[in-house]
This record gives sequence, C-alpha cells and structure tokens, in this order.
Amino acid sequence: MDMTIRPRRLRTSAKLRKMVRETRMDKSSLVYPMFVMDGENKKEEIPTMPGQFRYTLDRMPEALNELADAGVGSVMLFGIPEHKDEVGSGAYACDGIIQRALEKAKKEVPDLYYIGDVCMCEYTSHGHCGILKGEYVDNDLTLEKLAQIAVSQVQAGADMVAPSDMMDGHIRAIREGLDKNGFVTTPIMSYAVKYASAFYGPFRDAAGSAPAFGDRKSYQMDYHNRREGIKEAMLDIDEGADIIMVKPAMSYLDMVREIKDLTDVPMAAYSVSGEYAMVKAAAKLGYVDEAAILCEMAACAYRAGVDIYMSYYAKEIAHFMDEGR
Ligand code: PBG
Ligand code: ZN
Repeated sequence: MDMTIRPRRLRTSAKLRKMVRETRMDKSSLVYPMFVMDGENKKEEIPTMPGQFRYTLDRMPEALNELADAGVGSVMLFGIPEHKDEVGSGAYACDGIIQRALEKAKKEVPDLYYIGDVCMCEYTSHGHCGILKGEYVDNDLTLEKLAQIAVSQVQAGADMVAPSDMMDGHIRAIREGLDKNGFVTTPIMSYAVKYASAFYGPFRDAAGSAPAFGDRKSYQMDYHNRREGIKEAMLDIDEGADIIMVKPAMSYLDMVREIKDLTDVPMAAYSVSGEYAMVKAAAKLGYVDEAAILCEMAACAYRAGVDIYMSYYAKEIAHFMDEGR
C-alpha cells in the first residue's frame, strides 16, 4: 500500500479532531429574536413555534436575564402592537411597543446588545412591509417611514438597527435619518439578501403579520436568484450598511459564502421561524435528535462564513458551545 496521505489520520481521536477543527464559534456572536407585546403578566406560547413565547413587558426581563446568563450576545426585538393601521403608525410612535421594550430592556438588562427590527408589516393593517399605493407597496413613501422607525428605536435605546423591509434605497434613507439626529455611530445591519420564503410562515403567525392580500414577491427576492442577491448586498454596502444579513439561513448558505468572499463586511444569517418549527416538529415525533441537529445547523452556518448567527435556539446553542459541541 502506497498511501502517504491519509485524511482519516486526523480523525482518529476526539482530542485530535478538536485540535484540527476549522470552525470555532463564540457565544457573543449569537442573536436571539424575541417577541414583545402589550398587556400584563403574560408569556404566551406561539402555537407554530413550540418553546417560543410572546412576552409582555413585565415578563420580558426574566427572559432577557436568562439569555444574558447563558452568554448570548444580543437580542433582536419584534413588537406586536395592540392596534394596526394603514400607515403602521405604531412602528414609529415614541411610545410604541418596541420603543417601550427597548427602553426597559436597556435599563433593566444592560448586559445584552439590542437590535431593533425595522419594518412595517407587524404594524400595518394590511400586513405589508410598507405604505400602499393601491395594492402596490410604494417604495419612496416607505423610505421616509423607515428612517423614522429607525430613529425612534435608537432614541429608545437600540444599539443597532436591522431593516428587513427590502425597499430600494432603504439603507441610505435610514443612514441619513440617523446621522441627522446625531446617531452617527449606530450601525446598520441590513437584511440585504432576503428572499420571499415560505420559511417565514410561523413568524407571521407569531406576529400576526401575514399580508392581508397578495404576497411579498414585489419586494422580497425570488429564491431562484443568486446574482440578484449579490447586487442587493453590494447596493446596501454602498449605501452604508455595516453588516449584511442573508435570510433564511439553512437553504441559503451559498449566498453567505459568496458575499463573504466578495466583500469586507461582517456577515449575518437568520435561521428563521420555519427552520425552527421544522426541527421542533421532527424532534417531537422522535424523527431527529434536536440537540445534534441544532448544533449542526449552527456550525455549518459559521463554516459557510457567518460571523453573526440569529436563531430561536440561541440559548441552547450557547449551552452546547460551552460543552464544545
Ligand atoms: C419582517 C420580518 C419577517 C421576519 C423577520 N422580519 C417576516 C417577513 O418578512 O414576512 C421573519 C423571521 C422569521 O421567520 O423567523 N419583515
Ligand atoms: Zn416586513
């Protein structure tokens, strides 16, 4: 046998496998998406996302403290307003649900880093991500509102804003809005590479944000497209995006790798509600090993080039990172 190179040599023991492991992860790069709502003393389980909850503001700090204790670096907050209207005014009201949540979270659990999701769909009566003109989401009218939302979130205490609206020119509009208000150091993480995906189904249940008519395909991307994703990322970087996000994660890791190789910004990926729900459901039926699957999903995202990983499993992943899994 003439075989000097034997790849299996480096896999002979657990100690050695750990020594030569290529992807090493850090809990501080985990982001947990969390839903907050009005009301009192409620922690409501989301039916399509077992193990995930909507919290009233009085119950929010206990959940935040658990995340901080687990070592999760950051939380992304989503507000579910009491009232929705045509122009999503709850999204940029200074006493809106998300603004009050950010203020309270910052004050009571200051160890976490807080990201505000900037979009209108949770706040509009029609469930679309912007201002309607007829049945079409008007891009330029929406830009003004997005800037207002971002500014109001940062005023309330957000450390970073993450626009998920997919409007053209949104990063420029938000950057200008923030700068004009003196927030020149607040970073923007753009959901630049966001596809129109069925994987968002459970989230829309959780937030009551499904579009009342039509779909989001006139603003979110067609999942058949790769070059368009690169174009979106490049445009947003040009407009001042500090971090680029790809969403969903699991079926879209090719986009993470490609944009990582082409640019110099940190990359984020959002493992979305449908990914969580599928793992949960299969685990419940005993078809897959939940812990093993969520570790594998996270590690593979990092291997693809992710610097920041957003997941409803953030707390569990942090725990398994501690164990070196
Ligand atoms: C709002 C928004 C959505 C998600 C994050 N921000 C829903 C959507 O675009 O329909 C989805 C997150 C998830 O599915 O976990 N635009
Ligand atoms: Zn939206």
